Amino acid sequence: MLDVSAILLTDKTAVVTGGGQGLGEAIALNLAAFGANVAVLDIDEGSARRTAERVRETGRRSLAVRADVSLREDVDAALERTRRELGEIDVLVNNAGDLTDPRPALTITDERFDYFLRSNLRSVWLCSTDVARRWIELGRPGAIVNLATTEAIRGCPNWSAYSAAKAGIINLTKTLSSEWGPHGIRVNAIAPDYTPSPGTEFSGRRLNDADPGSLVFRDRPAAGQESLAGVAPFIPLRRYGSPDDTAGLAIFLASEMSAWITGQTIVVDGGSLACARVEGPLPLPMFLDLDD
Ligand SMILES: NC(=O)c1ccc[n+]([C@@H]2O[C@H](COP(=O)([O-])OP(=O)(O)OC[C@H]3O[C@@H](n4cnc5c(N)ncnc54)[C@H](O)[C@@H]3O)[C@@H](O)[C@H]2O)c1
Repeated sequence: MLDVSAILLTDKTAVVTGGGQGLGEAIALNLAAFGANVAVLDIDEGSARRTAERVRETGRRSLAVRADVSLREDVDAALERTRRELGEIDVLVNNAGDLTDPRPALTITDERFDYFLRSNLRSVWLCSTDVARRWIELGRPGAIVNLATTEAIRGCPNWSAYSAAKAGIINLTKTLSSEWGPHGIRVNAIAPDYTPSPGTEFSGRRLNDADPGSLVFRDRPAAGQESLAGVAPFIPLRRYGSPDDTAGLAIFLASEMSAWITGQTIVVDGGSLACARVEGPLPLPMFLDLDD
């Protein structure tokens, strides 16, 4: 029988890339709530510091490191510093990615395409190979959790380069799990659907400015109203995602509770990918923001 403690990460060392805001921040805080000490890596030092401070407020140890995780030298230095200051790494969450520049494929330059591959896919490769090399040398098990997206599974106008990079993550997750499974290293991915965050707020505004008719973000709700009826036609559970929805799965995949799960990409999408069209009652009162 399972012990309740199998979900806990007590005294584990976790690394969250892009942990300065949005989903990464929620993942870092929830890892801490479940017992882990957390290194927050972000290209934006100020936001990494803010998250690290919030982790410390939970009573866990934390470290903020400025790093561009698409660069090998930044990755190696940041992970080495994490080991020195927080101990050997047990969990890596490859969350950093750039979703802030959606645009039609024919307006993406070749250089920009390469940038999307670097920031969204190469970053996962660099961090994963760094920790796995070390784990295999030391004979330690470990868990890697990658952030893909539902757009890596279906097509979505304006997101070609980003989605292609994220689709690469899904295959990398399978292949690395196959190679590293014999060493006790599990590699899984999470594919969230639209989850309001500072990044989506920014990209939504950009898209609306460039293409007011865009189906993706047309009539986007104001912050705090994301659970209202505007999303009803697309999502059976009738609200957008919250960062905690993704964080919950990240905790599960990082913990012993998922000890025999590897190579998987699990969607966190309120049922949207499973569904052609939602018919039925409007959002239940429990999903409404009662402040509105
Ligand atoms: N929010 C969503 O709807 C959604 C849906 C599916 C997948 N995702 C994925 O979840 C992850 C987080 O998304 P979010 O919405 O919180 O984004 P966000 O833009 O709000 O936050 C991303 C964070 O990553 C950091 N970052 C970006 N590039 C970096 C780099 N090269 N090195 C280090 N840090 C870097 C940013 O500074 C920022 O703090 C991304 O990988 C994104 O693709 C998000």
